[in-house]
Amino acid sequence: MQTNSATPIKAPKLTLRKPDGTDGAAVWELVRACKPLDENSMYCNLIQADHFRDTCVLAELDGEVVGWVSAYVLPHDPKTVFVWQVAVSEKARGQGLGGRMLADLLSREACDEVERLQTTITRDNDASWNLFKRFAKREGASLDSEAYFTRDAHFDGRHATEHMVTITLDKEEMRKAA
Ligand SMILES: CC(C)(COP(=O)(O)OP(=O)(O)OC[C@H]1O[C@@H](n2cnc3c(N)ncnc32)[C@H](O)[C@@H]1OP(=O)(O)O)[C@@H](O)C(=O)NCCC(=O)NCCS
Repeated sequence: MQTNSATPIKAPKLTLRKPDGTDGAAVWELVRACKPLDENSMYCNLIQADHFRDTCVLAELDGEVVGWVSAYVLPHDPKTVFVWQVAVSEKARGQGLGGRMLADLLSREACDEVERLQTTITRDNDASWNLFKRFAKREGASLDSEAYFTRDAHFDGRHATEHMVTITLDKEEMRKAA
């Protein structure tokens, strides 16, 4: 009698979770590998992962960190969540992970009162524009943008103008889609 001795292939396991302080170093490595993101200090990523864990998202593929969203609710406006950085490792790109992490962020209890998502993007970052446009479309939300941190007034000529992107959420629509 013939038996099938082939070992079943295990599908890679993707998990999204809140970070903690011990994730700071891995996040720092991921951000460094995701050009053109600005690199911050490891200490900065550690503080994000620790103090802002309720509004940051870590994605792991079989335990390896492959995705990161740093964000916080604006201290002066509890209805706005500001996304600082989104990073997806090259090996996990083009599969919707960036959008999934943004959706996960907005589903958190910390975002219950949130009605707007904001982020800033430089004109030349097509991947980032497409990520947020795609996300807004999927959520049935509107997207506006305007120059905000400008090359000369804010960056002393050393950095391209950052455009403030505002995605106004339709919470009712999102609840229905969830
Ligand atoms: C931007 C980034 C986070 C996107 O992650 P991702 O998981 O691959 O994105 P998604 O699969 O969710 O794709 C979302 C949309 O962006 C588009 N997109 C992704 N990468 C792109 C690229 N390099 N150029 C143009 N469009 C791109 C996708 O086509 C998709 O749109 P579509 O569904 O209409 O086709 C990832 O490419 C990255 O880490 N880049 C380097 C860091 C960076 O620029 N971060 C954003 C600044 S905060």
